[in-house]
Amino acid sequence: MKKILLCISIATQLYALLAEGQQTLSAENEVPPRVFEIDYENNRFLMDGKNFQFIGGSFHYFRALPETWQRKLRTMRAAGLQVVTTYVEWSLHNPRDGIYDFTGIADLELFIKLAAQEDLYVILRPGPYICAERDLGGFPYWLLHKYPDINLRTYDLNYRHEVTKWYQVLMTKMEKFLYGNGGPIIMVQVENEYGSYFACDEKYRIWLRDETSRYVKDKAVLFTNDGPGVLRCGKIPNVLATLDFGESPNSTIDSNWRTLRRYQPAGPLMNSEYYPGWLTHWQEEMQRVPVQPVLDSLEKMILDGASVNFYMFYGGTNFGFTAGANEGGPGRYDSDVTSYDYDAPMDEAGDPTEKYFAIRKLISKYFPLPNVPVPNPLPKIKLPDINLKPISIIFNPNGRRYLANFTKQSNLPMSFESLDQNSGFILYETKLPRINRDPVLLKFADLRDRAYIYVNRRFVGIISRENKIYSIPLSLSLGDELQILVENEGRINYGLANDFKGILGNVYYDTMVLVNFTITGFPLDNYVKMEELITAYKTNPGDDLTLSAESLKAGPAVFYSEFNLDRNQIFDTYLDSTGWGKGIVFINGFNLGRYWPLVGPQITIYVPREVLRVGVNKIAMIELQNAPDAGLVTFSNRPNLDGNFY
Ligand SMILES: *[C@@H]1O[C@H](CO)[C@@H](O)[C@H](O)[C@H]1NC(C)=O
Ligand SMILES: *[C@@H]1O[C@H](CO)[C@@H](O)[C@H](O)[C@H]1NC(C)=O
Ligand SMILES: *[C@@H]1O[C@H](CO)[C@@H](O)[C@H](O)[C@H]1NC(C)=O
Repeated sequence: MKKILLCISIATQLYALLAEGQQTLSAENEVPPRVFEIDYENNRFLMDGKNFQFIGGSFHYFRALPETWQRKLRTMRAAGLQVVTTYVEWSLHNPRDGIYDFTGIADLELFIKLAAQEDLYVILRPGPYICAERDLGGFPYWLLHKYPDINLRTYDLNYRHEVTKWYQVLMTKMEKFLYGNGGPIIMVQVENEYGSYFACDEKYRIWLRDETSRYVKDKAVLFTNDGPGVLRCGKIPNVLATLDFGESPNSTIDSNWRTLRRYQPAGPLMNSEYYPGWLTHWQEEMQRVPVQPVLDSLEKMILDGASVNFYMFYGGTNFGFTAGANEGGPGRYDSDVTSYDYDAPMDEAGDPTEKYFAIRKLISKYFPLPNVPVPNPLPKIKLPDINLKPISIIFNPNGRRYLANFTKQSNLPMSFESLDQNSGFILYETKLPRINRDPVLLKFADLRDRAYIYVNRRFVGIISRENKIYSIPLSLSLGDELQILVENEGRINYGLANDFKGILGNVYYDTMVLVNFTITGFPLDNYVKMEELITAYKTNPGDDLTLSAESLKAGPAVFYSEFNLDRNQIFDTYLDSTGWGKGIVFINGFNLGRYWPLVGPQITIYVPREVLRVGVNKIAMIELQNAPDAGLVTFSNRPNLDGNFY
């Protein structure tokens, strides 16, 4: 007897599925099986035997709080999208070797269920490499700890061993959500923009195809996604190749399809990453894409019979230390901003923009809009100003006692990864040898990514991979105790080559190689420790403030305050970082991400209302360069992502 799920919408089908077959009917006739497949003869997708051309949009669950997923998915559906596309971030679900997490913001199964409930199909992009402007392109840092010589994204044995383990965990959770098994997942990606990766390893591509196919079988369509210029290394036999590109002249779109046809003579046309906006790095302008050309190219692709997935339809936020960086050319390093607003049709808070309504209108010309009203923008609030007090310097005794994860002695500096530290900062300390010159150049062979240099705990300057500044003159009059506080600004996510962090090569003082370092790790990934530091401060406020007001301002200092909110103040807001230098900010223990208003363009940090509380709220900032007078923080009821460029 065949088990068949007989339901109308995918939401109810999924419900039935989750009810463990209780609602299945026995029927040997009529009801066609659920099949999502490719009709190569007619260059189209078929869903249960019917033509299926669709508009979809990317929304990464890991860039929004889970309490907000449903509303955002509904807003996408209300625009006429039939599909939501998400990457799966390995590092989020497997933060340490052998430790898995599928709760809270990592509750991928909930996200898929909610998508189905909102009547959206799902395209799953499990990577395992995802790029996505995320730290190390979504790979967990511990791969670099466990296998310093690992060849990511190749046939490397250790790499394959770890992917196999991860896919076993992930894919066994995903199987029940595949279309052919009654769920909403219609397509599953193999690798991600592999054509752009220098390794171009065909054996690996085929291995990963088979590894994915082991779980997906014929229950969903496997696909790859590449820029039109790099299909040679991106295309995998027996996997549907799709393209990614932004708005372009018609002739370019035609030529993109022709290129695709050279590698794949038949099959549906698809743009898996159609860019309605773009990503932004610190120290550059907010990347904005005007709407009319986006509409024109969308219409052209629809008329070409192509399916189109917007990347991003909703961008969200790189909370905490999750933002990655790009290698904008040999030796270049550009870290990604905290906001992933992306100038997408839905803004960082998930509200529909003008771009959204224009796209919705165009979609409605070709596809029926669902009977779903567009959710209204959520209210935003300007909260009262607050003043934060410095409570600790992180390399003072209390800062070390509470925030450090380890201290060890090493003749030469060690990387974050060899010390098994993912995020935050590492402090390298040593004594400067006596030398009869003034000043003396302190020079780094390789430093990632940014170092705050102190002598006798007085701030003297910054080393910057971003700006290719690798040396600094030190005056003998400063003293001889050298402190180097190294910040990990995000591992490279594209063009990836094992982006280890910290002091990687020698440190030279004149021509001498510095040795005998005391190394202290501050991962700042555990807010419990921050709470302990704050409690210690409250118990004995004078304890850790052994520095002058000037040094306190310069940091690296922990600033703290509490503020009260009542019920009618719990709305989304934007923390305005103007006046601060560079650092990270926590509210109620939640790391909202990095701020750097000195360069921008992002000035405000999005604060979702879900992190605010009725009653006492706690704000902590780790400031690395310069706090404003009186530690003033203001809030705004609108974002400023374009600051400092006029
Ligand atoms: C581009 O193609 C679309 C759809 O085929 C057409 O409506 C539009 O006029 C074309 N634009 C130009 C500039 O030729
Ligand atoms: C350092 O971090 C690891 C991993 O989170 C944790 O297990 C350990 O307890 C921490 N050690 C200290 C001294 O904080
Ligand atoms: C190395 O540094 C430690 C800690 O500062 C110090 O106690 C020790 O004497 C130093 N060793 C040498 C060989 O300089």
